[in-house]
Amino acid sequence: MDPTVWRVEHFDEIDSTNTYVKDRAGEPEGLVALADFQTAGRGRMDRRWVSPPRSSLLCSILLAPGLQPDQLQLVVALVALSARSALERLSGLRVALKWPNDLVVGGDKVAGLLAEIVSQGTELRVVVGIGVNLTYDGPEDVAATSVLAQTGLTIAPRALLDILLEEIDVRRASLADAHGRLALREEYVGALATIGQRVRVEQSDVTVEGLAMGVDEEGRLLVDVEGAVRTFSVGDVVHVRAGEKSL
Ligand code: BTN
Repeated sequence: MDPTVWRVEHFDEIDSTNTYVKDRAGEPEGLVALADFQTAGRGRMDRRWVSPPRSSLLCSILLAPGLQPDQLQLVVALVALSARSALERLSGLRVALKWPNDLVVGGDKVAGLLAEIVSQGTELRVVVGIGVNLTYDGPEDVAATSVLAQTGLTIAPRALLDILLEEIDVRRASLADAHGRLALREEYVGALATIGQRVRVEQSDVTVEGLAMGVDEEGRLLVDVEGAVRTFSVGDVVHVRAGEKSL
């Protein structure tokens, strides 16, 4: 498979890079929006994503993987794994994944991904947005950190984006066949710090606690709650630390 032709559009200010790329989802795969600042940055579960100018990598990437709906979580996992490798290559920082796709260092969030699926005729396309805290430690009410706080290094957003796109190229061909997808899934499961942890899964209307057992083929989290395995496709996960009070 030929490497993707990346077309990076850089904005000093934009509402949201995800919104911009979603509005152009009919264009060829490889469109990337990069912004210094977002006035209406969006996070998962309808939250806002706010960061000071030039303090973060804020970008959104258009991918057209040619997959079925139940396989699309793997595309998001691919970008999360690529971001993890890019951070390690540039800064030496070792990050883990927290289900579904946060990048964490010792439990503190350093990056988050927001994936949105767009139908284009019969084809499904995926816009994957990523925010990486480079010099900003995140809002005070969230357990978050930055690459600067962890390593003392100030990384330029564009430098991280270039390595991220290289890492996506390394993995992109894996989506095309079952063997590649299995290898990607194994890389994802290996990087997920959530598995084997006691977790609290918080959804808008319900919170449950149990032991994270694994993820299924669609990337859903399997949690043993008092002996019954429950499956979660959305939600926030808290890794319950030893000694922390249970529900
Ligand atoms: C999350 O952890 O809730 C996901 C955060 C995703 C934020 C990024 S920043 C670039 C892109 N544009 C957006 O509006 N959101 C994503």
